[in-house]
Amino acid sequence: METKILPIDGRSLAQAKDIISSGGAVAFPTETVYGLGANALDDGAVRNIFAIKGRPSDNPLIVHVHSGYDITRLVARVPDYAKLLAKAFLPGPLTMVYESLNKVSPAVSCGLDTLAIRVPSHAGAQEFLRYVDLPIAAPSANISKHVSPVTAQHVYDDLKGRIELVLDGGKCTGGIESTVLDCTGDIPCVLRSGLVTADMIAQVAGECHEYVMKDGEKVRSPGMKYKHYSPNCRTILFEYAERQRAFTEYSRLIEEGKRVYFMCENAVFEEFRPKFALNLGNDEREIASNLYDKLREGEMVADIIVAVAPRKRDGVMVGVMNRMRKAFG
Ligand code: TXA
Ligand code: MG
Repeated sequence: METKILPIDGRSLAQAKDIISSGGAVAFPTETVYGLGANALDDGAVRNIFAIKGRPSDNPLIVHVHSGYDITRLVARVPDYAKLLAKAFLPGPLTMVYESLNKVSPAVSCGLDTLAIRVPSHAGAQEFLRYVDLPIAAPSANISKHVSPVTAQHVYDDLKGRIELVLDGGKCTGGIESTVLDCTGDIPCVLRSGLVTADMIAQVAGECHEYVMKDGEKVRSPGMKYKHYSPNCRTILFEYAERQRAFTEYSRLIEEGKRVYFMCENAVFEEFRPKFALNLGNDEREIASNLYDKLREGEMVADIIVAVAPRKRDGVMVGVMNRMRKAFG
C-alpha cells in the first residue's frame, strides 16, 4: 500500500472521508500529537487500528469529536463539574472519561463500561472531524511503544505501507498527549498528566485528584501500565542534581568513540555547552513541545542519548517527567 502525505484541503478531506467510510484508518494532526483515526461505530475499523499499531488489545482508545458534537449521544451522566471543565478547556488537550452508552464499537473501550472523549483544538483536526461527521476512535499514530509522532513525517516513518493517508497539519505545538481525566466520580481524577494540569482543573472544578496506582489494584487507565514512548537507541536519564555526572558520562562515552547526544533544557545546555546536543528549550511549554521531536531526532543520529531531567517539577512538567521516565526506561 502506498502512503500519501497531503495538506488538508477539499481534496484530501474527501479522500479521508472515503477511507473512513469504507472502514479504513487515516492519520490526522491534533494540537498534542498525530492521531490514527477510524470510525468508532465500526467494529472492524476499530480492530484494524489495533492491528496497524501492534497495540495490546486491552488498551482503550479515545473517541475524537468536533466542537459542535453533542456528546450525550455517546455518554451518560455528565456531571456539573465536567460541564464547567468542558467550557473552560475544550476544544483543547483534555480527554474526559464518562459512563458509556455503548453506542460505539465495544473494541474502543476494550470492555470497560466507560468512554474517553476528546475535542481537539487543532484547526485541521476540527476540519477533518466535521467533514467526516463521525465519532473517530484514535490512538497516537505511532507503532505501539514507540515515541508519539508530532509531524506528518514521524507518522510516515512508523506507518508507511500500513495506511493510505496522512493529513499534514504541520508540527504539533503541544507535544505531549492530552490529559486524561476520569469524570465518572464526584471529584475529577487525572489518569494521565498533560498540558491541562491538575491545578488548572481544580481551579475550575473546586477539587481534583491525581491517580496513583496502589499495589494489586486494577489499573484504571490501562495505557499507563505499558512501556511507552521509547526511542530506538540506548538512553540514560540523570536527575537534575546529577547534571555534572551526566556531562562527565557523556564526555566519557564520546572518548570511547560512541555517537552520544546530550539532552537537556537550555539552561543546562548553557552550563556545559555540549557539542552534540538535543536542546529542549527554556520554559515548560517549550520543553513539552520539543520532547518527542528531539527523541525522534536523537534516535536517528545517536547510539546513546544521555539526558538530564528538567529542573522544574510541577505543573506541565509532571506530564513531561512521566513521559521522560517511560522513554528512558
Ligand atoms: O493527545 C492525545 O490524547 C492523543 C491524540 C491523538 O488525541 N491520543 C492518545 O491516544 O494519546 P493513546 O491511545 O495513545 O492514549 C489513550 C490513553 C491511554 O492511556 C488509555 O489507557 C486511556 O487514554 N483511555 C482510553 N479510554 C479510557 C477509558 N475508558 N478509561 C480510562 N482510560 C482510558
Ligand atoms: Mg499512544
